[in-house]
Amino acid sequence: MAKRIGVLTSGGDAPGMNAAVRTVVRAALHYNMEPWAIYRGYHGLIRGEMEPVSSRAVSGIIQRGGTILKSARSDQFRTPEGRAKAMDMLTKNGIESLIVIGGDGSFAGALALEELGMKVICIPATIDNDIACTDYSIGFDTAVNNVMDAVNKIRDTASSHERVYVVEVMGRDSGYIALYSGLAGGADVILIPEVPYDVDQVCQQIRRANEQGKTYNIVMVAEGVKPVSGVDTGESPSMQIGRYIQEKTGYDTRITILGHIQRGGAPTVRDRLLASRLAYHAIELIYQGKSGKMLGEVDQVVKSFDLSYALAQEKELNLDYYHLSNILSSI
Ligand code: F6P
Repeated sequence: MAKRIGVLTSGGDAPGMNAAVRTVVRAALHYNMEPWAIYRGYHGLIRGEMEPVSSRAVSGIIQRGGTILKSARSDQFRTPEGRAKAMDMLTKNGIESLIVIGGDGSFAGALALEELGMKVICIPATIDNDIACTDYSIGFDTAVNNVMDAVNKIRDTASSHERVYVVEVMGRDSGYIALYSGLAGGADVILIPEVPYDVDQVCQQIRRANEQGKTYNIVMVAEGVKPVSGVDTGESPSMQIGRYIQEKTGYDTRITILGHIQRGGAPTVRDRLLASRLAYHAIELIYQGKSGKMLGEVDQVVKSFDLSYALAQEKELNLDYYHLSNILSSI
């Protein structure tokens, strides 16, 4: 009998998840396995929301953002009873291996299932790019391109009205999105959780830039930065920073929180290729009987890592990008 494998997407959706699902299904069929779709992540798994999936069912999805498998966060799965129920559903439906496409929270869930006896392989997909053991996670490239497009548009208005624009981007506790899109979008200031900031210095930087002839400024703020010290109002850091800049410099300042538009849209070439490669290797690992692994792409080579090892590592940010941005905006 063909080996039955389940695939689910979990946590925040990321562009490229569909490309990964498509490859999982087709590569599984190529290896004579029987792919099953599990809907709504761990939430759906607990409820037994699963069915066999055909090659045709994943036609026409490579270009679509989001996830056709849906995604959900599950409080029940965090409990031992919830995980036992999930394990029960997998065995009841004859699933021998499970592929989890998601972020580190989803990986922790996969590890818990492995401890209960399930074979699991994880594929990193989150716009935050905060997973260690891979240079990039699926969805990050599309998200930073989305942000860059938005900043290009904001720049038109910023230059026309000679304003300061504070742009808040996602990333949870990671500064990856802010740093990459800030550098690519030509931001004057980039604030990320990894580097403490002094809001008075930010004001000085903006004043200096304007004295040098700049008539508008873009300040990129990662959602995970600390609030303005001493004047924390409980609002988002970008609101506090924007208000402070307006008060201290007198420059007309606007705050734009980009929100979920960052997470949507057709995946870029990079994300489609990354998703396809990682998903193919996931099936190969299953074919070889492996379990408890996460796949990553490091220096353009696909590698597998022990899941428990990967989860214990800190994802490092390349601060060369930060220093480069500071140099470019100080001249
Ligand atoms: O993890 C992806 C992400 O988009 C983060 O950048 C952000 O903090 C969070 O998810 C938002 O979560 P939700 O979509 O549940 O509001």
